[in-house]
Amino acid sequence: MHRVRCDRTAAWPRLQTYYKEQGANFDLRTAFDSDPKRFAHFSQQAPHVFADLSKNLLNHVAEALLFELAQQCGVPAYRDAMFAGEKINNTEQRAVKHWLLRAPKGSSADPDLALVHETLDAMLAYAERVRADDAITEVVNIGIGGSDLGPQMVVTALAAHAMPGKRFHFVSNIDGHELAAVLEQVKPESTLFLVASKTFTTLETMTNARSAKRWFEQNGGKDIARHFAALTTNVEAAREFGIDTTFGFWDWVGGRYSLWSAIGLPIAIAIGAAGFRDLLAGAHAMDEHFRTAPAQANLPLRLGLLDVWYRDFHGFGSRSIAPYHSALRRVPAYLQQLEMESNGKSVDAQGAAVTYATSPVLWGEPGTNGQHAYFQMLHQGTDRVPVEFIAVKQPAHALPVHHELLLANALAQAQALMQGRQDAGGHRNFSGNRPSTFFVLDELSPASLGAFIALYEHRVFTSGAVWGIDSFDQWGVELGKVLAQDLAPRLASGDAAGLDPSTAGLLQRLR
Ligand code: F6P
Repeated sequence: MHRVRCDRTAAWPRLQTYYKEQGANFDLRTAFDSDPKRFAHFSQQAPHVFADLSKNLLNHVAEALLFELAQQCGVPAYRDAMFAGEKINNTEQRAVKHWLLRAPKGSSADPDLALVHETLDAMLAYAERVRADDAITEVVNIGIGGSDLGPQMVVTALAAHAMPGKRFHFVSNIDGHELAAVLEQVKPESTLFLVASKTFTTLETMTNARSAKRWFEQNGGKDIARHFAALTTNVEAAREFGIDTTFGFWDWVGGRYSLWSAIGLPIAIAIGAAGFRDLLAGAHAMDEHFRTAPAQANLPLRLGLLDVWYRDFHGFGSRSIAPYHSALRRVPAYLQQLEMESNGKSVDAQGAAVTYATSPVLWGEPGTNGQHAYFQMLHQGTDRVPVEFIAVKQPAHALPVHHELLLANALAQAQALMQGRQDAGGHRNFSGNRPSTFFVLDELSPASLGAFIALYEHRVFTSGAVWGIDSFDQWGVELGKVLAQDLAPRLASGDAAGLDPSTAGLLQRLR
């Protein structure tokens, strides 16, 4: 698979020149004045997701150059290689096939598709059995990172579609306060523990799983097979741990891309087999869009290129996520892992240092709360931070007034960021010309959420492809894991030999 790093393309210096001569002075207000059709030109309907990109610091010239950049980097060929099942995760020599998890039967020639559906059918049948089992009222997911954030985000987002009578708990942290707080609320006979871990070796998850099993046995729990299930690629290790009810997945599913696999079991229990299939169908529609839409109408591609434009030419170091829907409150945390673990790299896929910036910082809270906290900085701070508004047209509640006010606030913030205010004087002035993207979902349904998540996955794929990095490994998490293994016994013994003075001092403090 031939990839060309962005800084070795002809388009890259042309973008640099264009940015210096024009891009840096781009003004949104002038852009709207000079192009009455700007909204139409820079907004689009993709499967289940409408996106308005018109309030971004971008015109046709810059976007055309970015399309050239994508072409010269080999992004379309790299995308096709992913969908062909090639081992594009080259540092781990693995294929990247989360898209296959949502491919309908018969839709792909990939040899693993039959296995995917066999596992999916078994998992959904199990989910339906759990749903029908009134004795199980508590579902406790034990997992971390991709084995927590994806299912937690989706179960939270689709609460309006969840069955009544079951509560969902997510335990991720090795901090025992988290597990202890859940165990206080549940009883062994009415609880199902799902131990979710791709590797089945992660320290946090294994520690929590061992404690949960011990608690279960010490509190009269019987029938581990009924009360514990493991979701993992390492079924062997799960069996050794003592869990026989297992649902597998494969090394070609990255942790942060795994909610579509057996890791999605809590989602399937919450919204049912049909709901889970709708989630997959929404994501598949976005896969097809990304795979086949021409560049100019390819939303994930356009967004990924906009991210490169902002990061490497405008120099923006962060992006704020503003979901205007309280059920989407875990979306910023989910996207942090998706984007920052994928693209937070400073060497290219061959291991050579990159000369340009990669992943920005993602952060955010639901609107309108953020407005009363950090939006001050977004409007008047010295940094410009692109904001992403996520709005849902139909509310899932019947309270009058609220939803209009919520949506009005989202619109107003995007408007204020762009327009600014020049006539009030001094502290009351706003510079304006601050960019934002505005997403609209007609409703927060399994299908629209599936499409929205897949949109982000492919957007992250696009910027990572331009940057020439491996977006599917995460070597950067290893060092801390190794050092923690060394420090844990030292906390007990007090042995600080060979430690740097700061770590040694803190170790003594913490003992
Ligand atoms: O340490 C990072 C990481 O490997 C993530 O990529 C992953 O989602 C998380 O840990 C959990 O890993 P596992 O599912 O194997 O327990």
